[in-house]
Amino acid sequence: MNIKLPSTLLTALMMSACTQTPKPHELFVIGHRGAMGYETENTLASVEKAVELGVPMIEIDVFKIASGELVVFHDDLVDKLTDGSGPIEELTLEQVKSLNLEGNHQIPTLEEVLDALNKRTDLNIELKGANTADDSVRIVRQYMAEKGYAAQDFVFSSFRWPELYRVRELAPDFDIAVLTGDDPLEAIDTAKELKAVAINPWYKNVTAENVTAIHEAGFKVFAYTVNELEDIALMRSYKVDGIFCNYPDRALTQ
Ligand code: G3P
Ligand code: CA
Repeated sequence: MNIKLPSTLLTALMMSACTQTPKPHELFVIGHRGAMGYETENTLASVEKAVELGVPMIEIDVFKIASGELVVFHDDLVDKLTDGSGPIEELTLEQVKSLNLEGNHQIPTLEEVLDALNKRTDLNIELKGANTADDSVRIVRQYMAEKGYAAQDFVFSSFRWPELYRVRELAPDFDIAVLTGDDPLEAIDTAKELKAVAINPWYKNVTAENVTAIHEAGFKVFAYTVNELEDIALMRSYKVDGIFCNYPDRALTQ
């Protein structure tokens, strides 16, 4: 069918197409430690809140404790967030479970988070503690074999790059992101060696130029931890691929 529009209408349509505001750059929003702006970080409640807010991925931190389990916790010491004290790595599971976490929560194991999440979002496992690679890979493989998870449902990240080399040795198929608090360009060689998918810099170290350079090197950029609206807008303008956010709804609804 050949529809002829009057020339004045055609001109008006063309002008309006040219003057429309460009769509803002889309960000992949990762719920930081669940949604720690709303619920105690790294708890099942925080994970649930992030799911409720509609994030495509949640980030959690893991430590290996004295009795051998992986638990989901951010700090080296339990002092700040619980009624206990001392290094988390020196506790047994029984001791970890006896701690009262701020807001009357318990510290979960990695398996408890995976069971609760049940594939509703992807999961970024940050290897926060030493010797966490082997057990993280083993547990993820077990959930892939028994609970219907897929390798693409996970990203492994760490500031402890040797842990990432161990992940790559064990699992050529898993996505890896290189965390850095320094100049992100300095992580490019490591990211290449690891066949990583992304470099995750501190947002204060992100510039439009280093995002372009990292993209040209073949990696995505996910900046942490971006909570304020003006910083979220800045990250969009720099064309980062995604952000970690304590209040994921702030970035999802922008
Ligand atoms: O993975 C991004 C971010 O979580 C890294 O910093 O200290 O919050 O674990 P941190
Ligand atoms: Ca983290």
